[in-house]
Amino acid sequence: MKIVFEKGGGSLMSEPILVVHAGAGTWKNVEDINQIVNVLKDSLEAGYNSYRNGNCLDMVTNAIEVMENSGILNAGLGSTLDYSGNITMDAGIVDGNSLKAGAVAAVVYPKNPIRLARFILEKTPHLLIVGQYADDLAKKINLEKHPGPSEKSVELWKKLKNNPNVENFVLERINAAKLIGYDTVGSVAIDKDNCLSSGVSTGGVSLKLPGRVGDSPILGAGYYANKKIAIAATGIGEIIMATLLSYKVSEIYEKNENLKDSMNHAIDEINKNFGKDVVGIIGIDYKKNVYGIYNTEAMPWGYITLDRKIVIKGLPNR
Ligand code: GLY
Repeated sequence: MKIVFEKGGGSLMSEPILVVHAGAGTWKNVEDINQIVNVLKDSLEAGYNSYRNGNCLDMVTNAIEVMENSGILNAGLGSTLDYSGNITMDAGIVDGNSLKAGAVAAVVYPKNPIRLARFILEKTPHLLIVGQYADDLAKKINLEKHPGPSEKSVELWKKLKNNPNVENFVLERINAAKLIGYDTVGSVAIDKDNCLSSGVSTGGVSLKLPGRVGDSPILGAGYYANKKIAIAATGIGEIIMATLLSYKVSEIYEKNENLKDSMNHAIDEINKNFGKDVVGIIGIDYKKNVYGIYNTEAMPWGYITLDRKIVIKGLPNR
């Protein structure tokens, strides 16, 4: 397997089939970027293996599960903590062919919220189930239990809580991405039947007020896919929800059928209305173009091609 590193935003290559990202942000609190690269690589490999034996939902679910299990990204085991020092997680996944989606918000129980979202998509008539009811469902279907906050997340939480400006950061969410360093994982994929899918999973923004839910479980905001395009977003959920960012890209794409221009256009609008350091997006279209763009300092992301070439991009400068 060949790995290529590239700087910055997007790229067009032949036959990319799966894209993943580890979250937009400054990545300032993360010392070992190699660890992040390894997680991206493992995640892409897991998604790639599902291409052979599964569909686009398997590709996205399995890719995201690897990132949730890494313990070093803001999702699953590595989820960051809310203001009270607790974890609540959100996740969502959509099948672009049927527009059937599944999502969970403010869950505590499952180690892999993306698995619960996937269950809701496939086995229930609903799209979004929240809180204790979603946790009960996770237990009922025997999903693995989350062991609780990681040491790393607790350390970060203590550091943030000790910041004398902590109250301002909580109230002005727009500063949160700068402060915290990284946010949410996501994946978009196209399978051998040309079905597109998008999925996301997150612990939400650090120090969120208890009960706050972000963009990740909101179809059209944090994730979206149809028959032509799949988009996954990361960053300040309040902004992503207010702009319905993922759906917005699909709307522009409907007119120009140009993935890069559509995503650039949506980010230009964000820059204009909300400023820098707030969001990132990855996308794939039915023509198998892939692209990633962010207005934060970094957004580690990458993609894998049918011939198993991995490209890693958007790493922070060190
Ligand atoms: N983008 C994740 C969140 O705001 O919760």
